[in-house]
This record gives sequence, structure tokens and C-alpha cells, in this order.
Amino acid sequence: MNGKPHAMVLGTGRAVPDKVLTNADLEKMVKTSDRWITERTGIKERRVVEPGTPLSELATEAALAALENAGVAGEEIDLVIVGTVTGDMKFPATACLVQERIGAKSAVGFDLSAACSGFLYGLQVAGSLIAQGGYRRALVIGGDVLTSMVDWDDRDTCVLFGDGAGAVVLGPSDGERGILGTYLKSDGKYSHLLCNPGCGSLNPPTPENVRDKLHTIRMEGREVFRHAVVSMVDALKTVLDEAGMTVDDLDLLIPHQANLRIIEAVNKRFRVPAEKLFVNVEQYGNTSAGSIPIALAEACQSGRVEKGSLVGMVTFGAGFTWASALIRL
Ligand code: UT7
Repeated sequence: MNGKPHAMVLGTGRAVPDKVLTNADLEKMVKTSDRWITERTGIKERRVVEPGTPLSELATEAALAALENAGVAGEEIDLVIVGTVTGDMKFPATACLVQERIGAKSAVGFDLSAACSGFLYGLQVAGSLIAQGGYRRALVIGGDVLTSMVDWDDRDTCVLFGDGAGAVVLGPSDGERGILGTYLKSDGKYSHLLCNPGCGSLNPPTPENVRDKLHTIRMEGREVFRHAVVSMVDALKTVLDEAGMTVDDLDLLIPHQANLRIIEAVNKRFRVPAEKLFVNVEQYGNTSAGSIPIALAEACQSGRVEKGSLVGMVTFGAGFTWASALIRL
């Protein structure tokens, strides 16, 4: 989706749990150290839900914050998309639960599965549906409760993830502001490198599969790292090229917050100065589909960007999926 904007951001919101899990806490759980985690990932702490807290709670809180920020009432929303891989249940869609809680009686709601890329995929889908003319007020939410599928005995993965959700309200563009470009890609060849093999139809939750922890996250960290860097560079370069822009045009770049070293490796190629590069991975770890919309809401609400600012966003996740977007706020 490139060219004249059709849909623009009217408001942003975020929700993260109050509970903080620090590197020092993790030192008591697995054989790790604050030093290793900080040097290899940049993460110092992450927010985690109380066990049993569903994604819909965070998603609804983020949605209500975005609605308030946009000055839009829940009943005005006609489309709800939730990008997530940790919905409350296999069905119904978490988007339907959020729809009910915000009073969006006439909306259509559905979930979208693209792992860490879920929010940018959702932005593209909602933007296209608004561009077609059928919808006027869309909520795009990205969020995950990845701690619900973490193996807390596996130091390779348990130090990386946190919980959270972010949301935007979209409406028709005023002609200048809005989504200027998006780029989505996937490649299923690498699906085995980052996956949650249990819980689906492949490995239903039998006692044996639960015993073997198939319901937890499996990741080949080093391989994922390598692909993440190459793919995020590809995505950001492509969306900028197609828009006839360079990183110098950006007021802010929001990369997926998985690992500070990935962000730095991507930025080696683009050389975005620190004041234009958004980083909050030290506070939240990797919140999957929540990562980009949480960062966007924080950037808007802290005044780091304002109406008219050009924001680039780029992400990478399981699938593999990767994506980028350029928006004029
Ligand atoms: O959203 C997209 C999803 N995920 C990602 O983007 C994650 C991508 N991958 C990464 O961020 C990094 O690969 C990790 C942070 C997961 C790992 O960092 P790394 O620099 O690639 O480390 P490594 O996997 O090569 O492991 C190096 C060593 C190993 O020990 P040996 O074999 O060298 O003796 C690991 O066993 O570090 C060890 N190790 C740890 N040590 C202390 C792995 N995890 C830990 C830990 N604490 N938590």
C-alpha cells in the first residue's frame, strides 16, 4: 500500500502489567546473570501479568486509552483487529471480546496471526479496508501475553519476553496525514526456527505433549537473530524506496523491540541518530505484537513525535514474517 494516504492515526494507547520481573529476579530462577542478559539483549526488566490474566484485559485497556486519546466513542468503531498469537482462547477471537467490552456494537472483529508482525499486518489490513470506503473508525490492537507460553526453566528464551498491548484508532485520511506506505512479507521455510509447536491441531494438548512442554516457545536464537537483521533492513529499505524517501526524512524510527543488538545491527545500515531511534526494550523486553504499538503510543504521549511527524516502523517475527510502515501522524 503506497501513495496518497487513505487512513490516518487518530489516537494511540497502551497497556502493560504493573508487575515487574527484573534480571535479578531471573537470576534466582535459571542459571543466568544480569550481565549476560544486559550485554546480549539490552533488557533490564519486563512487565508480566499475574498468571491467568488474559490478553483481552490488556487489549481492552490499550483500546480504551486509544479511544480516549482519539476522542472517539466505542460505539463509533466499526472494525476491530487484534494482532496476537496469545489470544484468550483459540476461539472466539479476542477482537470479539474487546468489541463487546468497548461497546462497539456494530463493528466486525477478528484476530490476525503474524507473531511480532501482527500489529503492522493489522495496520495494513485496516488501512486497506478504510481505503475501500466501507469502514470509518478502526481499532488496530497489537498485543501478547507471551509469558503464558514461556518455559521458565529455559534460560535461552525466558529472559527475553514480556507482556503488553498497544492500540491505534484509525480513520479516513485528511489527504496529507496517514499511512504513506506499508510492506509485508513472510517465508514459511523458516517456521521451525521460532514456534510454539503445541496447543494447535499438530500437537493437541495431551498429557504427553504438555509433559514435553510442546506448549512453550521454541527458538533457535542465533538463526532468528541473523534473519531478523537481514529482513528488517529489507523491509525498511523497501518501504522508504517505494515512498521516494530516506531515513533522513523520518522524525522517528520505531524498530521491533526484541533485542538491542538486533536494533543496533539494523541501524548500522541506516545510521539513524539516537534521538530519532525509539528504544524501550530495556524496560519491557520483547512484547511480540505489542512491541511497536506500545512504542508508538509512548512516543506520541511523551511528545517525542507530534501531528505531522513522519514515523517509520519495522518488525520481524515468527513465520518468518516481517513488515514495515511509514505514517505521517
Ligand atoms: O521477535 C523475534 C523473536 N526473537 C528474537 O528476535 C530473538 C533473536 N535472538 C536473540 O536475540 C539472541 O540470539 C539471544 C539473545 C536469544 C541469544 O544471544 P546470542 O548472543 O545469540 O547467544 P547464543 O544463543 O549464541 O548463546 C551464547 C551462550 C551459550 O553458551 P555456550 O554454548 O557458548 O556455552 C548459551 O548457552 O550463552 C548461553 N546462554 C545464556 N547464558 C546466560 C543462553 N541464554 C543464556 C542466559 N544466560 N539467559
